[in-house]
Amino acid sequence: MAFRSCVGVIFLGCLVVLASSAVPKAKGRKPVNPPTRTINDNEKKAEAEAEITNDCPEDGFFADAEQCDKYYECRAGNIIEKLCPDGMVFNDYSSQEEKCDLPFNLDCSARPKLQTPIPQLHCPRLNGYFSHEDPKECGKFYYCVDGKFNMITCPDGLVYNDKTGICTWPDEAKKKGCGAADVFDFDCPAVNETFGLTHPRYADPEDCQFFYVCINGNTPRRSGCKLGQAFDDVNKKCDWARKVPECADWYKGQLTDAELDALENPPTAKPAGSGGSRRKPNRPLKGSKAVEDEE
Ligand SMILES: *[C@@H]1O[C@H](CO)[C@@H](O)[C@H](O)[C@H]1NC(C)=O
Repeated sequence: MAFRSCVGVIFLGCLVVLASSAVPKAKGRKPVNPPTRTINDNEKKAEAEAEITNDCPEDGFFADAEQCDKYYECRAGNIIEKLCPDGMVFNDYSSQEEKCDLPFNLDCSARPKLQTPIPQLHCPRLNGYFSHEDPKECGKFYYCVDGKFNMITCPDGLVYNDKTGICTWPDEAKKKGCGAADVFDFDCPAVNETFGLTHPRYADPEDCQFFYVCINGNTPRRSGCKLGQAFDDVNKKCDWARKVPECADWYKGQLTDAELDALENPPTAKPAGSGGSRRKPNRPLKGSKAVEDEE
């Protein structure tokens, strides 16, 4: 048995953020070449912050030196070996706190071993966030608690990134089969470099509420206007659907005029819709996820 004590792991509070924009990326964690646990001078130098010992350093909770979900409680010289719930790992930011967390944002590279998984339906381990079994279901994932799953769908246009446990843009997730070209039925029009740097926006030809932002002119990210609004491809911004000629009737059958009036706060006089949508006339199936606050 060997402990790690006083390990300088920075604790980042937020584990999982489901956001429709500006999703931060976690640091890359590559548990390759884990250091061996024999203590030598090099290792002491390399891990100046971590002290490997077989004795209870003091009362408190201490991480196992090899296994990220195993830890020890020391009380008056007695050592009790403990295990986090399957899927969680011991957070050793403070020896005074007994805390198991999901592995995102925790660095297990120096103690990469884990307990044998206890898989359940859709849950490779009892706890955690897991990709959908179907690799084509890029935006779906499971949240498992005690082996019970909940399927979660990322906001429109985002892809579940199993390295960070968050929904993010397809070009950021870099998930095989889930790139922008796989997920979106949209190609950014060719533009010159100068114009590309303005991240041009284009209406989604299939859905009035949505538009594509072409990052650097070439990488599409799908984004949405809020409920009641449509992307105005002339002025390149979201506006009330009734003010966007080709989308004037977009919410017909989904929202009543009174509801649209209520959304357009303060209510305005109803402009005559000019009809003749060049886009598909079916109304949106989903609600107003991934909306952009823009008026
Ligand atoms: C780039 O394209 C934009 C829009 O098409 C155009 O207005 C601009 O003059 C072009 N710039 C260059 C340097 O070609």
